[in-house]
Amino acid sequence: MTTSGHLDSSVFSRLGIRRRLGQKIRAIRNRLVADAGFQRRVARFPLTRRYARKQSEDLFRTTTGFVQSQILFSCVEIDLFATLAQGPLQAQDIASRLSLPLVSIRRLLPAAKSLGLVRVDRNDLWSLDDTGAVIHGNEGIRAMIRHHAMLYRDLADPVALLNNPDRATEISAYWAYAGERAGHGVSERDAQTYSALMRSSQDLVATEILDAYPLDQHESVLDIGGGEGAFLAAAGARHPGLTLESFDLPPVAARSRSIMDAAGFGARFTAHGGNFFTDALPGSTDCVSLVRVLCDHDDRAAFDLLKNIRRSINPDATLLIAEPMEGSDTGGSLAAAYFGFYFLAMRSGACRSPQSITQLLDAAGFASIRRIPTRNPLFASIMTAKPRPYV
Ligand SMILES: C[S@@+](CC[C@H](N)C(=O)[O-])C[C@H]1O[C@@H](n2cnc3c(N)ncnc32)[C@H](O)[C@@H]1O
Repeated sequence: MTTSGHLDSSVFSRLGIRRRLGQKIRAIRNRLVADAGFQRRVARFPLTRRYARKQSEDLFRTTTGFVQSQILFSCVEIDLFATLAQGPLQAQDIASRLSLPLVSIRRLLPAAKSLGLVRVDRNDLWSLDDTGAVIHGNEGIRAMIRHHAMLYRDLADPVALLNNPDRATEISAYWAYAGERAGHGVSERDAQTYSALMRSSQDLVATEILDAYPLDQHESVLDIGGGEGAFLAAAGARHPGLTLESFDLPPVAARSRSIMDAAGFGARFTAHGGNFFTDALPGSTDCVSLVRVLCDHDDRAAFDLLKNIRRSINPDATLLIAEPMEGSDTGGSLAAAYFGFYFLAMRSGACRSPQSITQLLDAAGFASIRRIPTRNPLFASIMTAKPRPYV
């Protein structure tokens, strides 16, 4: 064996020993942490008391998270935030304005207070707290909270869903294109329902993307799977010189045409209707964007979409991918857990890591792949790439 061969095998065996040692230490630690006596000692000892308390609060929050979501859902559904946005009210007045029993309002308000949604003063006057005010100010967040009623029903038996990822779900029926390559299954009514939800939740996403990647470095942008044009409308408002094009299924493209006309974009905007897996895509813009689109599709379909873009894209253009991505930071791991289960219910798609997206891009013929940092990865992370020249 060569010297380098000896080196390689000794490095590997050292790595193997280190990994086994790490696993042993972790197993000992886990036995200790699981021991009730050890937990009591940690909870009493002054230097570890705070850590123990935080651990048990975190565990409580995770275990009861579904109740907190339902408290939030109740507040949105009964319009509590809009009612309090008009000024502080006593519980009795809230109950009569919302036509709910006082006893129920007296149960809901303290629960909402514990979540930072509302606050109360000494005279039993209730008003919005910061999180309640944010939700009141954002129609997209409220629409997503309402939409979660459907996800909640689909996840009522998560083990059944994990055992059978092809099980019928409400969420997969809602996204009529999910797992569907032909694009025929989307009626005008389907398109209207999901496109309205997408439009209302686009605000925060578009701000995040446009702050991180200003589009004024481009002359024109084609937004593939562009929905009703909300992202392009935000981009066009920021950068008046930008020419805007969108490609989506025909019923969605028709909606974008009339919405963008009404918003005054007229000749600056072109809507293309078709199937982005099978139809030729427009190829004249110097930027092509995929906003919350790639994640909707399983690897094979995502690859086919990228390959189709690669076939049509202008050789100097930039491909911009913006969607929630898996990451090791808090935002990236929260996104991965939430979207992972959302896509499980949707029966299509994945919250991918930048490494997985890089592999797909590379295989589809893209190069110069970069990550662009965003402020809040819960809304979107960004990657850009350029078409690799054909040789
Ligand atoms: C999750 S939505 C994202 C919409 C928009 N980009 C946004 O962020 O608000 C995905 C979009 O892809 C479109 N889409 C799905 N399958 C398609 C297909 N085969 N061809 C063209 N568009 C498709 C849908 O109609 C929908 O508008």
